[in-house]
Amino acid sequence: MTWMITGGAGYIGSHVAAALVAGGHRVVVLDDLSTGDPARLPAGVPLVRGSILDRAVLDRALRGHEVRGIVHIAAKKQVGESVARPLWYYRENVEGLRTVLEAAVEARVRSFVFSSSAAVYGMPDVDLVTERTPCEPMSPYGETKLAGEWLVAAAGRAHGMSTASLRYFNVAGAASPGLGDPGVFNLVPMVFDRLSRGLPPLVFGDDYPTPDGTCVRDYVHVEDVASAHVAAARRLTEDGDAHLVLNIGSGEGVSVAEMVGIIQEVSGHTGTAPDVVARRPGDPARVVASAESIGKELGWSAAHGVREMVTSAWAGWQLRHP
Ligand code: WQD
Repeated sequence: MTWMITGGAGYIGSHVAAALVAGGHRVVVLDDLSTGDPARLPAGVPLVRGSILDRAVLDRALRGHEVRGIVHIAAKKQVGESVARPLWYYRENVEGLRTVLEAAVEARVRSFVFSSSAAVYGMPDVDLVTERTPCEPMSPYGETKLAGEWLVAAAGRAHGMSTASLRYFNVAGAASPGLGDPGVFNLVPMVFDRLSRGLPPLVFGDDYPTPDGTCVRDYVHVEDVASAHVAAARRLTEDGDAHLVLNIGSGEGVSVAEMVGIIQEVSGHTGTAPDVVARRPGDPARVVASAESIGKELGWSAAHGVREMVTSAWAGWQLRHP
């Protein structure tokens, strides 16, 4: 059977494409190339260039490639931008998803994997976030991901399609330098950017109720994120009634101060002390996944550590900024 990956030319999507191909699956990628790059696709994987909001393009891709499973990754993903442009985020992330689901049901797609986010939890007040921790998103971005999960589960149950919503925690790293994250929106690339320009890294607040006062997150290697999708794809193919909602995290917390220290060591930019600046509005003190459910359901656990994430991400950064 063939899997269609929407957003498969992007940072996470191209890793998922590579992992599915390595797992012996046939893959077709649908991507509008707004942030994606065809050079990221594994050899031999066809690209259909177009928008998830375009039914004609979707129908052509699904029927032309006899698609039976979809991994829907294409989405807008910047929290601040979603606050400024909520209507656009709902259109791209919710209406876009609804359009893909409608096309999927009509084309008799059997399995659907949806990229969700830890942003659905908002400011969780627990040590480890389980899938039963209440969802209280703090941004339109997080809202679109939560609404997306509801839509996916409802459509799957109504139309006999197995589904999985995978809640990514903080994704970093690269499988190879050419697959590095081209965006400068998250901690790791933002620190690379500062260091490369000879500036001190910024730490957004050191007065949080955490051991060193800086925010704690659960960083997961993008290759592990990709292998979780392969495991989910296998499970959804075997169990046509499955409707899963799972965290993709390591279960280990790393503070911003610790992460900045590792980045400085790995990049060799150890001279400049980080600048502690004001808190960034809306940042929760601690967001760390419980990885128990995904371990039980898919037999998956994170295989790569934080140092590997930073080392591989740095190789990618250097390739793009010689
Ligand atoms: C991590 C920590 C910052 C830059 C967001 C989304 C989440 C998911 C991942 C998509 C925070 C601090 C950062 C810097 C810093 N995205 N920081 N200095 O906010 O945990 O999660 O991206 O699904 O949904 O909300 O990630 O990488 O932006 O920040 O101190 O220069 O690093 O304040 O505590 P975040 P992040």
